[in-house]
Amino acid sequence: MFHAPIVPRARKRLRPAECSVPRHDEVKFEDVRVYLVERKMGRSRRSFLTQLARSKGFVVEDILSDEVTHVVSEDSHASSLWKWLKECAPKNLPDVNVLDISWFTDSMREGRPAAVETRHLIQDTLPTEGSPPTPVATVSPPTPVATVSQYACQRRTTLENHNKIFTEAFEVLAESYEFNMNEGQCLAFRRAASVLKSLPWAVLSLGATQDLPCLGQHTKKVMEEVLYYGRSFEVDNILSDERFQTLKLFTSVFGVGPKTAEKWYCRGLRSFSDILADRSIHLNRMQQSGFLHYGDISRAVSKAEALSLRNIIDGAVHAITPAAAVALTGGFRRGKEFGHDVDFIVTTPELGKEDRLLLNIIDGLKRQGLLLYCDYQASTFDMAKLPNHRFKAMDNFSKCFLILRLESSQVEGGLHSVEGDSRGWRAVRVDLVSPPLDRYAFALMGWTGSRQFQRDLRRFARAERRMLLDNHALYDKNKKEFLAASTEKDIFAHLGLEYIEPWQRNA
Ligand code: UTP
Ligand code: MN
Repeated sequence: MFHAPIVPRARKRLRPAECSVPRHDEVKFEDVRVYLVERKMGRSRRSFLTQLARSKGFVVEDILSDEVTHVVSEDSHASSLWKWLKECAPKNLPDVNVLDISWFTDSMREGRPAAVETRHLIQDTLPTEGSPPTPVATVSPPTPVATVSQYACQRRTTLENHNKIFTEAFEVLAESYEFNMNEGQCLAFRRAASVLKSLPWAVLSLGATQDLPCLGQHTKKVMEEVLYYGRSFEVDNILSDERFQTLKLFTSVFGVGPKTAEKWYCRGLRSFSDILADRSIHLNRMQQSGFLHYGDISRAVSKAEALSLRNIIDGAVHAITPAAAVALTGGFRRGKEFGHDVDFIVTTPELGKEDRLLLNIIDGLKRQGLLLYCDYQASTFDMAKLPNHRFKAMDNFSKCFLILRLESSQVEGGLHSVEGDSRGWRAVRVDLVSPPLDRYAFALMGWTGSRQFQRDLRRFARAERRMLLDNHALYDKNKKEFLAASTEKDIFAHLGLEYIEPWQRNA
């Protein structure tokens, strides 16, 4: 007899507050009335799944009545479930679909009631009257789950993330490990987040992660908490930790990395005013600009702003070098609507003129009064020093890190700024890189990102192909030669990988 609600399997903790708030979601599927069996599922998970289904237009009944068409259970013991069902005995029991959770997860994935297939059914094994229910829809063979690669460069990852509740938790953990200089754990959580981002479906149970790569015990524990309680307690603890909050605040300043942030924290500094009041602290030029323009450059840059900046840089380039080309790269090339900066790659067909090209652009921007900050780094690129056996975060191409002044009048639809800001302009972070033309494809690939996608491309090249890839070149260690590429497609082809579009590289 399972009349009393069963307590969730794990620790009994507070449920997420929103579970008890009634929701008025639009009903899309009148004919399907779902009942979730609390036994084995637990109350908080049942409540979470109910909310999820209702938000997708499903009717989920709280009580098992004659109205119910689909009973969903996580009880793997068919006999005990059927015994209970018969005791509750709605009159129409023979017509009800008694299903395991896979039908529910399929339905959530498809955004509509999935066709009932044999694999979804929990068969009545009790020797009693009444035949087992027949499927309402045609039975088709179960679809095998395609295997998910451990390499991001073999997955297609769009911006549509169905597993945000997990990936956001993982990103907090990764950042916390980064602050603690634990590279291994940091990377493990970044990889796990990346795998979940690539899934075209939401993970609704730990069972669904069984065949996924890069998910270790720790990640699964976090997922379990999120599934059961809607939050991870470990993540909550990190978010409320003073050190984490302070390091996060300090590293949000342009020019301040984890090491500087840690140094300031150890000195007892906790706020920007603490730093600015401490006369023993010397801020370099980058950090000074970072504080000066903090409000502007800590606010996201919109796509409209990025496009307007492209026009401005285009203008500055073509005034002097008509044959040069400017292309948007970074997150905006991957289809993002907002970014923390804008990345451009500029090229000239004349080999060796790359440094001059950037200096000309910088001159042009300065003359127009748009240059608020400029850190120019001349090229140190030397083909004779390749291949690099160890990857360095920075490539050797001519580049500059800028803060530009962007006028509202230049942006279609106006600036992405805070309400009440009447200045009519904002500061924006812009990066320019200028590789020699024969290195263009490699640089474009590297600067398009995402960071995780590029990391896995390099890891794949090394581990699976005995090749070395970076922003400059692709080197084949078997043949002991460099492989030429004039497009990104050439690079994928050399690596024996299917081509992945930029908007599918949001790993
Ligand atoms: P970003 O840090 O700008 O990231 O670097 P993003 O993907 O555009 O994200 P948002 O929208 O700005 O927040 C873009 C790519 O350029 C590479 C990075 O590794 C990343 O993949 N990059 C950056 C380099 O290859 N070399 C550099 O010197 C700097
Ligand atoms: Mn960027």
